[in-house]
Amino acid sequence: MKWLSFFAICIAIVAFLIVRTNKNNVCKSFDDYYSDRDKNPNCYYNPDHELEVPEIVRRHGYPIEVHNVTTDDGYILTVFRIPYGRHGNTTSRKPIFLQHGITLNGGAFVIMGEKSLAFMLANAGYDVWLGNFRGSRYSNGHSYLDSRSEVYWNFSFHENGVYDLPAQLNRVRTVTGQKVIYVGFSMGTTAAYIYFSVYPNQMNIDLFIGLAPAIYTDGILVLMIWPFVAGPLQYFTNGRLYPRPLLPPYLYKLICFPYPIQMKVCQIADMISMGFNYEENDPETLPVTLQYNSDAASINTGWHFCQIANSNKFQYYDYGEISNRVRYNSSTPPLYGLSNVNVENHLFYATNDKLATVKNVRRLFNDLPNNYSHKLYKVDDENFNHLSFVAGKNAHRLVYQRVIDFLKTTRKA
Ligand SMILES: *[C@@H]1O[C@H](CO)[C@@H](O)[C@H](O)[C@H]1NC(C)=O
Ligand SMILES: *[C@@H]1O[C@H](CO)[C@@H](O)[C@H](O)[C@H]1NC(C)=O
Ligand SMILES: *[C@@H]1O[C@H](CO)[C@@H](O)[C@H](O)[C@H]1NC(C)=O
Ligand SMILES: *[C@@H]1O[C@H](CO)[C@@H](O)[C@H](O)[C@H]1NC(C)=O
Ligand SMILES: *[C@@H]1O[C@H](CO)[C@@H](O)[C@H](O)[C@H]1NC(C)=O
Repeated sequence: MKWLSFFAICIAIVAFLIVRTNKNNVCKSFDDYYSDRDKNPNCYYNPDHELEVPEIVRRHGYPIEVHNVTTDDGYILTVFRIPYGRHGNTTSRKPIFLQHGITLNGGAFVIMGEKSLAFMLANAGYDVWLGNFRGSRYSNGHSYLDSRSEVYWNFSFHENGVYDLPAQLNRVRTVTGQKVIYVGFSMGTTAAYIYFSVYPNQMNIDLFIGLAPAIYTDGILVLMIWPFVAGPLQYFTNGRLYPRPLLPPYLYKLICFPYPIQMKVCQIADMISMGFNYEENDPETLPVTLQYNSDAASINTGWHFCQIANSNKFQYYDYGEISNRVRYNSSTPPLYGLSNVNVENHLFYATNDKLATVKNVRRLFNDLPNNYSHKLYKVDDENFNHLSFVAGKNAHRLVYQRVIDFLKTTRKA
């Protein structure tokens, strides 16, 4: 044990020195990474991966507001607001609410510099709000529960949809007096469909845009292996799932940076689970997104996705026959009602996405009520995978700009 600590400290010191001697952490091309990065004019230091969202937003020249809201079950969440763009003014704008996916936080929409979705929307004339689900970095408070307790982490995207979304969207409504355009990525769409289902007369959203919508989860590899990892995790973590628990930051940097080949190695798990695609790696933002895109989620969230995969139905959390009877008055969990969706849906999917697969997105699309002009958009790049929607080098061109172009054509914008 002593020797192990000794080696760990040695490795940490070496890592520290390596990181310190290379201040510049990003370069314009992958070849530049192999040069003397501190002397190469194509390389520079980008601090975004270790800054908080308000600092990132201000650093890029945008205004930011921080709003705290408390859900009906006591979780304290933060919602960020970028009320206008770089050259904007304070005239009333249409609010857009962006909701992140699993193991992310609202920062996922601001860490690609000027190619970030939040900045592009702010510059296009929108009032941009960034939601943060319970348990993530900016929403880990509770009015009476300890955030390390098992009771605190006893939630899934059901609670995200039933408690987190109303609390956040009500705040946007109160401040702006308007309904929002909702843009969700991945689990940010799952929670939204639960919100639509549980509050069929919802009046906060008047247009829905789903990026890689995740409702049906049939045939997803990660969910097939989930039962084998979840048990031990639950035991050691009180139900908190943190995808990068083993490596201390310096060790992580030593293993995963600075060379592109190391970055590739560190993405293997992501590639296997979300679709192989090194083509969408962006030399100029990868060191930031790779470090930033990792936040806490609950283990029950994984189980809930798993249950939906097994039953192949969009259903409430399965607590087992006895508890189900108490909670639902039925031995099996009820289904969420997609027929309650009362806004137009615009869904983006990618053929190489292994989490929101083409088949499952099409099934969702077909289940939506047919008295709205819903639309499906295929991303025009065969390599684009799940993570590319928030970290891909062409996401701004293939997805975000298309969203903005579409919004310009609708009068709700
Ligand atoms: C919001 O909550 C955070 C964390 O609890 C706290 O540091 C911050 O001061 C609060 N901000 C406002 C505007 O209430
Ligand atoms: C404020 O911005 C809006 C939208 O970009 C523009 O239409 C309006 O003319 C601007 N107002 C002022 C006072 O600059
Ligand atoms: C989690 O919530 C369910 C349903 O309310 C309850 O049956 C279960 O005992 C809870 N588990 C913990 C660890 O709090
Ligand atoms: C529970 O379900 C049964 C059979 O479906 C129904 O007759 C009964 O009214 C339900 N009870 C409540 C409290 O909803
Ligand atoms: C679609 O049908 C639902 C349920 O019948 C109704 O509430 C809604 O207003 C309809 N929407 C449109 C645009 O017709």
